[in-house]
Amino acid sequence: MAKSMSVRNLNAWYGPQHTLKDISIDLDEKMATAIIGPSGCGKSTFIRCLNRMHETAPYAKVTGEVKLGDENLFDLDPVDVRRVVGMVFQKPNPFPTMSIFDNVAMGLKLGGIRKQSELRERVERALQMAALWNEVKDRLNRPATALSGGQQQRLCIARALAVEPDVLLMDEPASALDPISTMRVEELVEQLKNDYTVVIVTHNMQQAARVADRTAFFLSGELVEFGETTKIFTKPSDSRTEDYITGRFG
Ligand SMILES: Nc1ncnc2c1ncn2[C@@H]1O[C@H](COP(=O)(O)OP(=O)(O)OP(=O)(O)O)[C@@H](O)[C@H]1O
Ligand SMILES: [Mg+2]
Repeated sequence: MAKSMSVRNLNAWYGPQHTLKDISIDLDEKMATAIIGPSGCGKSTFIRCLNRMHETAPYAKVTGEVKLGDENLFDLDPVDVRRVVGMVFQKPNPFPTMSIFDNVAMGLKLGGIRKQSELRERVERALQMAALWNEVKDRLNRPATALSGGQQQRLCIARALAVEPDVLLMDEPASALDPISTMRVEELVEQLKNDYTVVIVTHNMQQAARVADRTAFFLSGELVEFGETTKIFTKPSDSRTEDYITGRFG
């Protein structure tokens, strides 16, 4: 079930470096929100705060409030958070020694599902949703590493979806993909936002414009502007947003 995330005065540090400064933003359910901004502005750090991964980095610190639905994110067990707030990384990272099937089934098994028929059904459903089923249904026992980069990325998306998260965070999920795989991932985001809260980090402005309902522009750890994607790309209120989207810096 999709849940919203409501972020208030989020600050994050790596040691002395103040990386995120007072971020407040509402990530509404059944919406895709794009996070854009120049390299190093804190996009990955931001989404890593949302599934409690940031605090696992050495010397990392985070303050502020994040609500996941009605609950306080920082009061929950991080392991439980990661089950309901799924993450897809820039570089596909399937479990290399596992088969295609086991990559997707892993989270379900950890969640206590043992019945083979149920596992098969859930794995198929996740692979269908990630638009990979037709390409792999005859070789589910082959190693995940035998897939192409684009297929591995869709496998990682299937792995994240299999456990039916409430929120899906995607960190430049298509940056290493060819145009056809990129288009598939974009179509998938379109479809996923009917059921999930989707947050997608991207360097590709056209991609943000195509898939996101709302767009947030980050600069040097600050949220400069957040609003409807069409407004951000056609009538931004802040001149720094305009400079960035028109390619004057970043
Ligand atoms: N594990 C870490 N330890 C120390 N500093 C880090 C760590 N990860 C990121 N940083 C620093 O935090 C800042 C923000 O990094 P972050 O990865 O969030 O940027 P980004 O917007 O995702 O950039 P990119 O578009 O290049 O992926 C940068 O100055 C970076 O060097
Ligand atoms: Mg990043």
